[in-house]
Amino acid sequence: MYNAFFGFRENPFNLSPDPAFLYRSPQHEEALANLIYGVHSRKGFIVLTGEVGTGKTTMLECLRDYLESQYIEFAFLFNSRINTEQFFEMIAYDLDLRCSVKSKTEVLFALNHLLIQQANEGRTTVLIVDEAHNLDWDVLEEIRLLGNLENPRLGKLLQIVLAGQPELDRKLDAPNLRQLKQRIVLRCSLTPFSLAESNEYICSRLKKAGMPDQTVFPDEVLKEVHLRSQGIPRLINAICDNLLLTAFAVEKKVTTLTMLDEVCKDMRLDWPGRRSRARAPITIEDATDPASFFSPREP
Ligand SMILES: Nc1ncnc2c1ncn2[C@@H]1O[C@H](COP(=O)(O)OP(=O)(O)O)[C@@H](O)[C@H]1O
Ligand SMILES: [Mg+2]
Repeated sequence: MYNAFFGFRENPFNLSPDPAFLYRSPQHEEALANLIYGVHSRKGFIVLTGEVGTGKTTMLECLRDYLESQYIEFAFLFNSRINTEQFFEMIAYDLDLRCSVKSKTEVLFALNHLLIQQANEGRTTVLIVDEAHNLDWDVLEEIRLLGNLENPRLGKLLQIVLAGQPELDRKLDAPNLRQLKQRIVLRCSLTPFSLAESNEYICSRLKKAGMPDQTVFPDEVLKEVHLRSQGIPRLINAICDNLLLTAFAVEKKVTTLTMLDEVCKDMRLDWPGRRSRARAPITIEDATDPASFFSPREP
């Protein structure tokens, strides 16, 4: 909506996890390197955890791009609220298995065939599950069993990437998942950005959208955006998008703290220290006159 006004080629703060806008923070860089290494290591499970909005799906989308570029077969399950039948159907569909997708036996047979064929050609096959903290126990058990598929000569046939909120770690601690936990070869986690990273992140997105030297967010606004978003990329995007929209509405090219207050109010955003900072400062005279705490009554 405001792209032409600010001179952007495209929306800099789109909420979709788009690898084209990837900001390579050290931890995102490391997570991606781990995912790629884990896939090639052919040893077992890789687990990626992080709070909501920290960039897990973005990392998986980058991994997807990588796998496509390397012609590595993969199934990507982004909906984890599924039962075991749906789980096998989705795998069959994603891997284009020639079988009746309704029959678990047939899917397993076709899958095994594909895995061996790929391994014989020196390739691995990958199963990626996003939002894995929502997986039912019986689907997790099926995943564990798939992780066991191996060939004495070719090694593990299916590499499994599980991404989810920190509850996933707690779920994997359950006694019935002991065997799966032992097979996790790599774990990575994403945490919120530091102030410097938040600023670089915003600048990097603006640059990719067509503003190499950003002029829309002054330092004091950047600092507050970091504080109020608590360094969570998804919140940074939402705040910055709303800020640009607010500035556009009043035809201003630079955002202000007043605009930020308005945006945060509309978003009903809460952040540490909000209440204490929002309180009006009390002067000594005010403090000695209790009546001054209340607004004067209309006669
Ligand atoms: N490293 C990053 N580079 C660019 N954008 C990012 C990065 N990390 C997160 N984002 C953005 O933040 C938002 C939330 O990311 P997402 O991957 O959906 O988080 P999660 O899956 O952890 O909830 C998306 O708009 C995404 O584009
Ligand atoms: Mg996600």
